[in-house]
Amino acid sequence: MKAAIIKDYATDVVIGDVDTPKLNADSVLVEVHAASLNPIDNIVRAGYLKDMIPVSFPFVMGYDVSGIVTETGADVTKVKVGDAVHARPNQDDAGSLAEFARIKENELALKPESISHAEAASIPLAGLTAWQALVDKADLKAGQKVLIHAGSGGVGTLAIQIAKHIGAHVATTTSARNADLVRSLGADEVIDYKTERFENIVSDYDVVFDMMGDDIMARSFGVLKKGGILVSIKGQDTDNLAEKHGVRFEWFLMSPSGEQLSQLDALIDKGVVKPVIDSSYKLADISAAYDKLADGHAVGKIVVAVK
Ligand SMILES: NC(=O)c1ccc[n+]([C@@H]2O[C@H](COP(=O)([O-])OP(=O)(O)OC[C@H]3O[C@@H](n4cnc5c(N)ncnc54)[C@H](OP(=O)(O)O)[C@@H]3O)[C@@H](O)[C@H]2O)c1
Repeated sequence: MKAAIIKDYATDVVIGDVDTPKLNADSVLVEVHAASLNPIDNIVRAGYLKDMIPVSFPFVMGYDVSGIVTETGADVTKVKVGDAVHARPNQDDAGSLAEFARIKENELALKPESISHAEAASIPLAGLTAWQALVDKADLKAGQKVLIHAGSGGVGTLAIQIAKHIGAHVATTTSARNADLVRSLGADEVIDYKTERFENIVSDYDVVFDMMGDDIMARSFGVLKKGGILVSIKGQDTDNLAEKHGVRFEWFLMSPSGEQLSQLDALIDKGVVKPVIDSSYKLADISAAYDKLADGHAVGKIVVAVK
């Protein structure tokens, strides 16, 4: 099958021929209609995670998939051939930028009927990350205040909408050109990170959701109230800043979950959460799509039409 592959670390993403994934009993094969890109793709590609996530070559790129089930494994009971599904599959099943992908039944959800495959491909990794940060890690509650960094990014656009659905007061950082967008997603306070320092504007917050790390993460501890929590998907608290500020700190790597994805999908079909698409590319233009991702200023998600 045709796929977007790398033949070694730190090389260009090219279109090549690879074997179709072998069906497992607990999995389905999906004809991929759309995929989306995530910063992790370029991190794995660069070889920065060689020890944590070793890959073999040719490595098929892409972690987010939306498509149609073409075959089901012997133990699969919840989906059938012809169903439209989407997922962020585990590392062994990574490789959504291909004509076919294998997905474990417990890692997929039926595609929300109200959105296209391209939109459905934009949701799993970023949406599960936002959900796991705000619901599982921060236990965000109605009436609490949350600062969400990079509210205009793939994770941030979904995190703002999930936090508003929970009933939280949301402040977010982005640049001025995205202020109207993040307000339209529900942000109550928009802070232009290029001209303002967020710690001069917000204080006594219950939760910070950080995806920038470094200095931004370090400065974020000071906006929390005592006992508050900073959840980061980027940085580690190597200087014990959480203890110094009397707050909690959690870093985590998102994990696949068909069940949580279904809960998020229900909000999508109700119109509570809307996908935000930065741009759409053809598979043949995959190299340009990854250049756009590397630029770090996508507004929402970069999607790729595979079929
Ligand atoms: N640990 C995990 O499981 C996990 C999971 C998902 C993502 N991540 C990480 O989380 C980060 C975000 O992922 P993503 O998919 O949301 O990335 P993304 O879509 O590429 O984020 C791009 C957005 O970031 C904004 N931005 C850039 N610099 C900023 C700053 N200094 N302050 C505020 N906003 C800024 C940009 O806004 P402007 O254009 O206005 O600058 C842009 O809209 C990445 O580093 C990714 O690797 C980790």
